[in-house]
Parts: sequence; structure tokens; C-alpha cells
Amino acid sequence: MTSNFYDKVAKKFGGYAFGKGHVKHLTEYPDGDPEKIFKKKLLGLANKNKIALDAGCGDGKFAFQIAKYFLSITGIDTSKELLKIAGHKRSVLRVKNVIFKLQNAAKTSFPAKSFDVIYSRRGPTPFAEFHRLLKSGGYFIGIDIGEKDCQGIKEIFGRGQDFGQWNTSRLVKDKQELKRVGFEIVFSQDYIYDEYYASHDDLDLFLQGVPIFEDFDSEKDKQSLREYVVNFQTEKGIRFPRHRVVIAAEKP
Ligand SMILES: C[S@@+](CC[C@H](N)C(=O)[O-])C[C@H]1O[C@@H](n2cnc3c(N)ncnc32)[C@H](O)[C@@H]1O
Repeated sequence: MTSNFYDKVAKKFGGYAFGKGHVKHLTEYPDGDPEKIFKKKLLGLANKNKIALDAGCGDGKFAFQIAKYFLSITGIDTSKELLKIAGHKRSVLRVKNVIFKLQNAAKTSFPAKSFDVIYSRRGPTPFAEFHRLLKSGGYFIGIDIGEKDCQGIKEIFGRGQDFGQWNTSRLVKDKQELKRVGFEIVFSQDYIYDEYYASHDDLDLFLQGVPIFEDFDSEKDKQSLREYVVNFQTEKGIRFPRHRVVIAAEKP
């Protein structure tokens, strides 16, 4: 993931996760909505004495949503453009207990044991740095993209985020790395589900704002996208299989 991609998206759409709110689609979750499960678990760890770190906070939308449950939240990101939007929203919304900093999550300037909770919503996951930054008894909780996410469209395009890693379990890999750096896993689950896009144009617009193909180009990728639409058209819309992993871990 490059910050250039996110700077580009921020300039084009005025924020991140544009697709979800503006593109016509429906979602079917056989095992529950992983975003909701992640949020519920995160809020279960929150109270008004706790200090949280939002790793890869993007435009800050999520941090503002949950700010009232924490003493404070520090959002860090490597995209200057997204942080600019976050700062602007902060002054409009007048949320005092959220601050934003331009920092690389893998090598922050915060002292050790600065945070009670660190969360990452499809953001960076340098677990060794998170371990350093957490107090003892603190928690990491993350929702991330699983290895089977959008496999069909990536196969047709012949590229994309984590292309070809279909058989390397993200959940297993992350759990191993968390344990290696000293965490104890308290929750871990794969979520495989389907989104259905109403039309070719809706899917095109969605792909412009997400990093599935950082170099997605509506013109250059027209043929491949058409092929995908034909192959994945169903009565409910154009099927778009997703995969998320949710993990929570404690620093003993
Ligand atoms: C998929 S977006 C998610 C944004 C936000 N968490 C959300 O839920 O809308 C990933 C974010 O992580 C940021 N990011 C990627 N690598 C980073 C790093 N090493 N340190 C800090 N932020 C990073 C990107 O700039 C981007 O804003």
C-alpha cells in the first residue's frame, strides 16, 4: 500500500471509503458483518480512561465515530492529503479528544507503553511496534483483508493487492506474527461474504476509490471489467466475493 494511492483518492473523492456510501450495492453476510463485529469488540475494550491509537486512520471518519467512548484517540497515517481532510473535519466537528499525526506506524516516535488499545481498520499492522507501544494488559484489535478477497476479479485482471496468495492464510500468518512478538490471541475469525453491485458503472466507480488495483484505470481496464461483469452477473447483481479477518490480541 502506498500513501500516493491514498493521496490520489483523497484528492479525487475528498476522503476515503467513498465507494461504500455512494455506490449501489448489497451485501450478504453468512457469518455476520465483520466491520460490526470488529467495532463491537473494540468498543468492548473502551472506557473513558483509555487512550487509543488508530493505525492508518485515513480521513478520521471512524475515529470521530467512536471518540466519545475513549479518553483520547491518536490517529496516525502516512497520507498527508487524508490527514488534511481529517484535520479539517476535526475543526468542523469540534472533537477535542482526537488528534492526528503524520507517522509511519512501523516506526513511530511515541514512547513505549503509550496506549491502552491499538486498532487498525484495514490499515498497517507492524505488530512489533504495536507491542512496544501498548501498556501491559493492553489490546490490539484489527480488521484486515483476507487472502481470498476479490479473487475472481484479480484473476481476470492478472494483478491486484496480494495477487496469487490465495492459499496463504492471512489469519494464520497474522496470528503467528502476533505470538512471535509477544501477544496472546483472544479472538480470531475469517469472514467470507458476497457483495453485489447493481451495474458495471457502480463497480467501476467503486474500484476507482479502493486499493484492490491501485492502478485501476476505467479506460485501460474496460475489457477485463466487462469480462468480469459477464462472468459474475447474477439475479442479485454482479457478485463480488469478499474476505475479511478480525483478530484481537492482548499484550500480557
Ligand atoms: C484501507 S485505508 C483505511 C483507512 C481507515 N482506517 C478506514 O477505515 O477508513 C489504509 C490507510 O492506512 C494508511 N497507511 C498505510 N500504511 C501506513 C503506515 N505504514 N503508517 C501509517 N499509515 C499507513 C493509508 O495511508 C490509508 O489511509
